[in-house]
Amino acid sequence: MQVSESTSGIMPLPLVYERVQHHVPAFEWPLLAVDVEAILRLKREKNATILAHNYQAPEIFHTVADIVGDSLALAREAAATDADIIVMAGVHFMAETSKLLNPDKRVFIPDSRAGCSLAESITAADVRELRRRHPGVPVITYVNTSAAVKAESDICCTSGNALKIVRSLGVDRVIMLPDEFLARNIAAQAPEIEVITWAGHCEVHELFTPDDIRAVRESYPGVTVMTHPECPPEVVAEADFSGSTAMMADFVAYKRPQRVALVTECSMGDNLAQQFRDVEFVKPCNLCPHMKRITLGNIRAALEEEQHEVHIDPLLADRARAAVERMLAVA
Ligand code: 13P
Ligand code: SF4
Repeated sequence: MQVSESTSGIMPLPLVYERVQHHVPAFEWPLLAVDVEAILRLKREKNATILAHNYQAPEIFHTVADIVGDSLALAREAAATDADIIVMAGVHFMAETSKLLNPDKRVFIPDSRAGCSLAESITAADVRELRRRHPGVPVITYVNTSAAVKAESDICCTSGNALKIVRSLGVDRVIMLPDEFLARNIAAQAPEIEVITWAGHCEVHELFTPDDIRAVRESYPGVTVMTHPECPPEVVAEADFSGSTAMMADFVAYKRPQRVALVTECSMGDNLAQQFRDVEFVKPCNLCPHMKRITLGNIRAALEEEQHEVHIDPLLADRARAAVERMLAVA
């Protein structure tokens, strides 16, 4: 989703504030506005674009981001941008994906420690060992991985296109890594395909339990429960809908349920609550510590100082890019 116009003009600050007024108290705004104003100016001066994931805090998501969305949308938009500089308000693998798709552009991550427990759960050597154990079985790699792991893969997927990617290969056995729960959730939707999994988990979504969902339903009658497919299958089984962050946002936008529980990272609900005032958001709240490393202050510093640039070895990048591009061609 496109949210602000970085090249056609700078939006006046009072209008920017309207976008976060239900989340940011008026007395706090002047403090944030200093960074917001500087970022909007720097974007214009440097022909930079800010891509922000749906888990970014509202004061980033609704004020300085040019494009917001799930991993799939951010990858697509990164491939299409004509900016000279990309700042990823997200985690490191997202910045790497942007760099893979834009080898000639400069890509920055405001805090290079913004990692991901899934990306940490597997190495390139692990993928080679899996291939040795399962010769000839194609490897589908979730984008929440390092470029080195993508380079060992046949094709990537996101939570928004995983089912389509699995089916697109036309085989009866696949290796899907590293998210065990995403793989098992997809396997449940494609029983004709055997899915070999890896024991990686998202440290945010693995915490939710079926009891959490039952408790929410009891306390909030009529609530529509949505889960991210990184949740354990027994949690997804309790939900009314499961999909990527963008799919959940679309569900809210088009169906306008009265009450929604978003079983995912907290800021997602904050961002949607700011936008859809007629919907009541129940937030069983888990924060992603990696996403929360990104702040207005370090986005400004990334632009001002041009710091924390993402670099990928060119030979490895060619192989990793091929896996991402195969995904974009299918999905
Ligand atoms: P989405 O692609 O659904 O936005 O998910 C990314 C992610 O990191 C979820 O934890
Ligand atoms: Fe990784 Fe989970 Fe954070 Fe998403 S929410 S970036 S999968 S740790």
